[in-house]
Amino acid sequence: MKKKIAILISGRGSNMKTIIKNVEDSILKELCEVMVVFSNKKDAPGLEIAKSLGISTKVIESKGKKRSTYNKLLFDYLDELNPDYIILAGYMKIISSDVVQRFRNRIINIHPADTALHQGLHGYEWAFENKMESTKITVHFVDEELDTGKVIAKREVDISDCGTIEEVEQKGLKVEHQFYSECLKKILTTEHTESTENG
Ligand code: GAR
Repeated sequence: MKKKIAILISGRGSNMKTIIKNVEDSILKELCEVMVVFSNKKDAPGLEIAKSLGISTKVIESKGKKRSTYNKLLFDYLDELNPDYIILAGYMKIISSDVVQRFRNRIINIHPADTALHQGLHGYEWAFENKMESTKITVHFVDEELDTGKVIAKREVDISDCGTIEEVEQKGLKVEHQFYSECLKKILTTEHTESTENG
């Protein structure tokens, strides 16, 4: 049976767009359906992209709310929605521990750096400023701490030929787009096989 996924964004949504496309007609087809694209920012450009692709959207503004108020509203929304997986795609808020507990091992994030070396925002800037030869994009489960959850896979990107941060980001994002869906496929297929084996 197809898994139901909710994609959480805060901005541009280029990873989200690729995932939706891959659900429509490529490697994620038949494996899952996108229930909703959620954003904590009402002006996130990704929301319009999602709508144009026929996907429902939902906004709960985090700005102007106490963190606990926002977290409670988000928990209640996700609890009611009850997706099989929550896919973070440039979602720039920390997931609260009650959401982590409710969806243990079912919240997945993509991070533009090796989570063992860099956590939080600005992963590409970090790699560029530290003159790194390469960066390792990491897809991981989300736990209670920031970017410490179990790693699903890492993919190294050579950035030694990049002269600007824009080049680093462009090159990295291109890899992210393909890599994220590959990882999601792996997770969804493993689950799928297991549930088949279990009858
Ligand atoms: C991506 O580079 C993603 O890896 C990063 O935000 C960008 C979102 O781009 N995520 C993080 O830094 C999470 N710590 P997108 O909105 O175009 O997908």
